[in-house]
Amino acid sequence: MKILFVSAEVAPFAKTGGLGDVSAALPRQLHGLGHDVRVVVPMYARVLGRGHVFTEVVPEMAFALGDLTVRVAIFSAPLPGSEVPVYFVRCPSLYDRANIYDTGGDEHLRFAVLNWAALKLCQYLQFGPDIIHVNDWQTALIPLLLRTLFAWDKLFARTRTVLTIHNLGHQGTFDTGALARCGLAPVADRLHQEHLREGRFGFLLTGILYANAITTVSPTYAREIQTSEHGVGLDGFLRGRADVLRGILNGIDEDEWNPAADALIPHAFSADDLDGKEGCKAELLASAGLPYRADVPLVGVVSRLAWQKGFDLCEAVLPVMLERRRFQLVVLGTGEGRYEDFFRHLARAFPRQVAYLPAFSEKYAHAIEAAADMFLMPSRYEPCGLNQMYSLRYGTAPIVHRTGGLADTVWNFDPGTGRGTGFVFDHFDAAGLAWALGRALDVWGNGAGVERERWRHLQRNGMRLPLGWSHRIGEYVALYRLVAPDA
Ligand code: ADP
Ligand code: GLC
Repeated sequence: MKILFVSAEVAPFAKTGGLGDVSAALPRQLHGLGHDVRVVVPMYARVLGRGHVFTEVVPEMAFALGDLTVRVAIFSAPLPGSEVPVYFVRCPSLYDRANIYDTGGDEHLRFAVLNWAALKLCQYLQFGPDIIHVNDWQTALIPLLLRTLFAWDKLFARTRTVLTIHNLGHQGTFDTGALARCGLAPVADRLHQEHLREGRFGFLLTGILYANAITTVSPTYAREIQTSEHGVGLDGFLRGRADVLRGILNGIDEDEWNPAADALIPHAFSADDLDGKEGCKAELLASAGLPYRADVPLVGVVSRLAWQKGFDLCEAVLPVMLERRRFQLVVLGTGEGRYEDFFRHLARAFPRQVAYLPAFSEKYAHAIEAAADMFLMPSRYEPCGLNQMYSLRYGTAPIVHRTGGLADTVWNFDPGTGRGTGFVFDHFDAAGLAWALGRALDVWGNGAGVERERWRHLQRNGMRLPLGWSHRIGEYVALYRLVAPDA
């Protein structure tokens, strides 16, 4: 099949979270199966100057969005570790910014250009995709554009679209003043009319209305987003498309996340030989300035510090637990000031127990997954979540809220039966989190003797789960074949 994959992020070029990981791993897998898959992303300032070699594909492409003429160039580079071509849309006035996402007020234009440029590029290359796979609101205009303004072009006669929702919390909703600049004025009658009358339109909603199929990144989240509790105002529209909506759990890239062969961790280990993990713990604690003790468990956090991730529960729970129980905590992440301040204060208040690293660091992300005994992820909601899966792979027991993809990947450990992979709390409140963290510390005990054997068992349960993309990719291929039967 010919597949065009369009996304606002692709690792390692541009990543703020899991979208970047998925946008690299999924195309790589599809390519491995022999499909002709190509990726389109913006060329952000951060993409340049990292030693990647780019080839110019299109020196200049111009198109009109309302009264604005947009000029872009297209460059390409192979996705590291594969032959997949990644096309970069270069437009310095839009993408040369400090951050991938911006608050400058022209986000609608920045990503409308990505949608248009992806289709213009297909025309330039005469590449007629069987599937255009779009991701999140930033690329969700493509299904409508294909059915309207690009419908004349026979190149797209057989093209079908799949929209993956990685996070319903971000919908790309703008006021109608932005319509023309998105090139949508001629097709305003195809947008949701009630919203237009209220003065707004949404990229994601437009994608939900026009994509041939919709997926989200876990089966539980697929159910949740059809409820008013988790639907963020779009649940009615999602229920309306329930026949084409399904949840496909993300996989993990097992080349990148494999404790037996991870260049970013100091000691290798595996389910059969866990000894190296202890060395990873000792080294991480030393570099974080915390004392190492084999009988004290280490809890890790690697996360965007955003409302979604539920760290407000930690404010009520962690200071008390750190007073009462013996454990250490290493936190890696940046984000909202409230959470950064909280972890900074916590590290000051418990200098022998807590370290906070306010950074985005691949190296520390791997080091923490490898070193920690437990991984804390109390997300308020979580479409899939990758870090709990990396944790499982690294023998690090996840402590999670039962929501979205966390509910589909982590099961409460029962010392009686020996089954389960982590610690899961049902209710998103401080008591829930305190219960789960307390359970994890109880099961850990002193980390020695029988308790240690029990913990090893829990670790191995998680490490042996089939979490790699190779176990998931078939579901995407089957879906593509369903929506594009002639491919
Ligand atoms: P989300 O996409 O909502 O942020 P995921 O769990 O799906 O959550 O993916 C997060 C990804 O971002 C993981 O690959 C994780 O390792 C990475 N990540 C998050 N914060 C950091 C950080 N501070 N440093 C390095 N990697 C990070
Ligand atoms: C989003 C979600 C996260 C998911 C990731 C990749 O950022 O917050 O749960 O794992 O996308 O699909």
